[in-house]
Amino acid sequence: MTDVERRAALDDIGAEVAVCTRCRLSQARTKAVPGEGTEATEVIFVGEGPGFNEDRQGRPFVGQAGALLTELLGSVGWTREEVFITNVVKCRPPENRDPEPDEIAACAPFLTRQLAALDPALVVTLGRFSMARFNPGARIGQVHGTYRAADPESGAPAALTYAMYHPAAALHQGSLKATLFRDMEGVPTALLEARKLRTERLAAAPATDQSPYQAAAGPPPIPAPSSAATTAPGPAAQPIAEPIAEPAPAIVGGPDGQTAESDPTDQLGLF
Ligand code: URA
Repeated sequence: MTDVERRAALDDIGAEVAVCTRCRLSQARTKAVPGEGTEATEVIFVGEGPGFNEDRQGRPFVGQAGALLTELLGSVGWTREEVFITNVVKCRPPENRDPEPDEIAACAPFLTRQLAALDPALVVTLGRFSMARFNPGARIGQVHGTYRAADPESGAPAALTYAMYHPAAALHQGSLKATLFRDMEGVPTALLEARKLRTERLAAAPATDQSPYQAAAGPPPIPAPSSAATTAPGPAAQPIAEPIAEPAPAIVGGPDGQTAESDPTDQLGLF
């Protein structure tokens, strides 16, 4: 798919999202929030769902959590404009409650189509609802700051996923901010691994069967986020793991030494 075709596909999805009435979230929304960013990217960030500010503006991550996400991107030399940012659900859950399973299911085809259009090398999941889409069964306290192959059912069969806490979690629990920044350090490394994996898979695939990888030689010709090619492996980077099966394989100590048992966001169901 060319960049022009990717843009057209994303714009079509955005237009459908804007008038979608597939679930009850459409009834209370001001604006739907399809997502934004460049079509020429290898990296997609997927959050949970729009909040108050996003609902008003029709843009993802423009409130306080968004300011932190922008800061996190900046910490590795990236900008919002170099990636694509979207959410699991495209309309604001009332009072910022968790999205319900039927709402997530109703909205899922939009994210699937966005993934198909972008064919990202790396999906950075922000929070547990996004993580659950790409690595069902994972516990965020165990897997944050690590990358692994995406569940092929996620719509991104050729991608690695990298799990992070939701930026809003750090607004509720200040100690998570340092964890988020530490985990962010590992994202460029995960992208390098994702590129390597795609190149290897492309080389191994028969010439007639390169889907879903780009049939053109090598990874997609995108402007690489600026630090990706030069950033040394971050302390948070972990080896590739197999897609998580239930129960999730133990990852002994996260980058910050937390375990699922000691992770307050797992216990409280925050993000
Ligand atoms: N939280 C999210 O998950 N997404 C947004 O767009 C904003 C806040």
